[in-house]
Amino acid sequence: MRAIVQDKYGDADVLRLEEVERPEPGHQQVLIRVRAAGVDPGVWHIMAGQPLGVRPAFGVRRPRQRTRGADIAGIVEAVGPGVTRFVPGDEVFGVASGSFADFALASSEKGLAHKPEGLSFAEAAVIPISGCTALQGLRRGGVAGGARVLVLGASGGVGSFAVQLAKAFGAHVTGVASTGKLDFVRGLGADEVMDYTQQDPVDGTRRFDLILDTGGNRPLRKLRRALAPGGTLVIVGGEGGRGLLGGFERAMLGAPVLSLVTGQKLRGLTAVTSRADLITLTEFVEAGQLRAPLDRTFPLEEAPDAIRYLHAGTVRGKVAITI
Ligand SMILES: NC(=O)c1ccc[n+]([C@@H]2O[C@H](COP(=O)([O-])OP(=O)(O)OC[C@H]3O[C@@H](n4cnc5c(N)ncnc54)[C@H](OP(=O)(O)O)[C@@H]3O)[C@@H](O)[C@H]2O)c1
Repeated sequence: MRAIVQDKYGDADVLRLEEVERPEPGHQQVLIRVRAAGVDPGVWHIMAGQPLGVRPAFGVRRPRQRTRGADIAGIVEAVGPGVTRFVPGDEVFGVASGSFADFALASSEKGLAHKPEGLSFAEAAVIPISGCTALQGLRRGGVAGGARVLVLGASGGVGSFAVQLAKAFGAHVTGVASTGKLDFVRGLGADEVMDYTQQDPVDGTRRFDLILDTGGNRPLRKLRRALAPGGTLVIVGGEGGRGLLGGFERAMLGAPVLSLVTGQKLRGLTAVTSRADLITLTEFVEAGQLRAPLDRTFPLEEAPDAIRYLHAGTVRGKVAITI
């Protein structure tokens, strides 16, 4: 089978299309014929081995898992021993090990569910990681009807789901993006939009009950200015950070420590793509409250271009690789 593999860390040039052995499903594993694979910043981080702090988890000198890709939508080809939830022929979506390939293995018990009715494989493939992260981030921030929610990075993968889900929870949503993407964020249902190139969205003139931070790497002291008393900041991430952890120390260290001494709740997030949340997202899709914000697709052999396209910041929502 074909797969997009790498043997050293680097930019998208280290990726190549190779013929590899088709994997066999083991205990509670499902072999999926890949029809589409979502692309997200996590793919770039593992490919690049950046920030350096990720390397112990993924391989010190080179990625242990050679094939890139995690988000997946496809058709079950075969199941291993102990699989009861899926049978060959089922249409599924979720996360797998190395989804930029003709076939990939997924755990039947963790991040895999039946594909939502009415979505293409490409649409389904962009939901798992970004959709679960948005859902878990909003929950961690205690989203509720009537809450004033600020989504920083509303035009990105996580943000474009967060805007729609926060609206579905009945919140009043303000989405922050760059000038050319404001219409896209309005189209997701945001009540208000802010252009961060023209105004500082956290200058303190507006206060929010929940801030979901997915872009910009703003210091905590600035983000706190825009938080209502008793409000909650949830730090999801942000690209372009420096140092060993690439800015993630805001979420891992800064937020929990500062939370102890202020009345505001400052929280990091480590999202997990779970079967339960994939089912919740499916319910939102099937109720017409959530759509997959698919910008464009690339064929498997152009996976390096898909990653470059995402990393360049051009994407509105999500991109997918199709097979
Ligand atoms: N904690 C977790 O478990 C978890 C899970 C998934 C992802 N993440 C991380 O979360 C971050 C977001 O992921 P993603 O998939 O949404 O990435 P993405 O698709 O690249 O979106 C990032 C968004 O950030 C926006 N942005 C850039 N600079 C900004 C600024 N100064 N102010 C406000 N927004 C700005 C961009 O908007 P414009 O294009 O309009 O500039 C872009 O749409 C990434 O760092 C990712 O690694 C964390």
